[in-house]
Amino acid sequence: MRQAGRYLKSYRKMREKYTFLEMCGTPELSAEVTLQPVKELDVDAAIIFSDILLPLRAMGLKVYFTEKGPFVFGDEISSIDVGKMLFTSEIMYILKKELTDKTLIGFCGAPFTLMSYIIGKGKPDENHTKYLMYNQKEKFKNRLDIITDSMIEYLKLQVESGADMLQIFDTQAGILSPSDWKEFALPFVKKLIIPFKGKIPVAYYVNGMSGILNIVEETGTDILSIDWRVDIKDCRNSDKIIQGNLDPAVLLAEKDTITEKAVYIMKTMRQKRHIFNLGGGILPQTDKNKAKFLVEMVHEWEKEP
Ligand code: CP3
Repeated sequence: MRQAGRYLKSYRKMREKYTFLEMCGTPELSAEVTLQPVKELDVDAAIIFSDILLPLRAMGLKVYFTEKGPFVFGDEISSIDVGKMLFTSEIMYILKKELTDKTLIGFCGAPFTLMSYIIGKGKPDENHTKYLMYNQKEKFKNRLDIITDSMIEYLKLQVESGADMLQIFDTQAGILSPSDWKEFALPFVKKLIIPFKGKIPVAYYVNGMSGILNIVEETGTDILSIDWRVDIKDCRNSDKIIQGNLDPAVLLAEKDTITEKAVYIMKTMRQKRHIFNLGGGILPQTDKNKAKFLVEMVHEWEKEP
């Protein structure tokens, strides 16, 4: 999930000097931010510091990040010019040298989620997205195809540059009914995952999809990354590796509550293939010491037979 960011003093200090886009686009800065949570919390994996919306800039759209969140301009999308994303490779080359015993995660947004951000100009607009989905179905699917093919290229670049694992963020797919999810999300996610099958582990993150976990299994993903609205015991019989799913807001609670909620997840998934993770991005108001406490506790627990 999103693990770098404003909850870290070291991040806020850098943000005083640089904009978010400068930090993402300058390999040395991005690599430094990527490493902040790794060094300060000792998490087992590093997720490259970038954003799911950045590759849209290499697809003919304008993308800005402001105090109010992201903005995306332009309607006509074109296939990605992956040459414009080479800074991502440079970030990864730097990170590969620094990270000897940690997993390096590359990522992209899922086609439906990126489409929602494009339609909503940076702020997903559920009703308008569905209006276009139903009323301009062919155009909608054509664009999903362009996005899918572009993200395949972008992920390939990340694999060539040293990613150990890939994560696909489908943060918006939870707004869809099961049948619409099957039509407008599933085929594109499946196509996106195929080139990486058996080559590198792929995690698919869904948000707000507890009702259709069974169909989500059809994506072909190796790892199913789930949000906190799902009771993780309902995933015990999945044939996927499950990643998740502590509510990021639990880190705002006292340590005994953090322990109770984390232990529930670990006990439930004992003997199962499970990657402990938050169920969403870490909140900016999180106390770093509590995040660190959680990481230490999970590591301690893993040592127990
Ligand atoms: O550890 C990491 O930080 C990894 C990098 C990362 C970011 N965004 C950095 C970021 C990753 C993996 C993302 C994914 C992302 N971006 C998603 C999918 C996952 C999720 O959280 O649901 C989505 C939907 C986005 C789009 C996005 N980017 C939004 C809606 C926002 C504004 C919200 C916010 O927290 O400010 C961003 C900005 C953003 N992306 C920040 C970071 C650290 C905050 C930038 C800042 O002001 O410093």
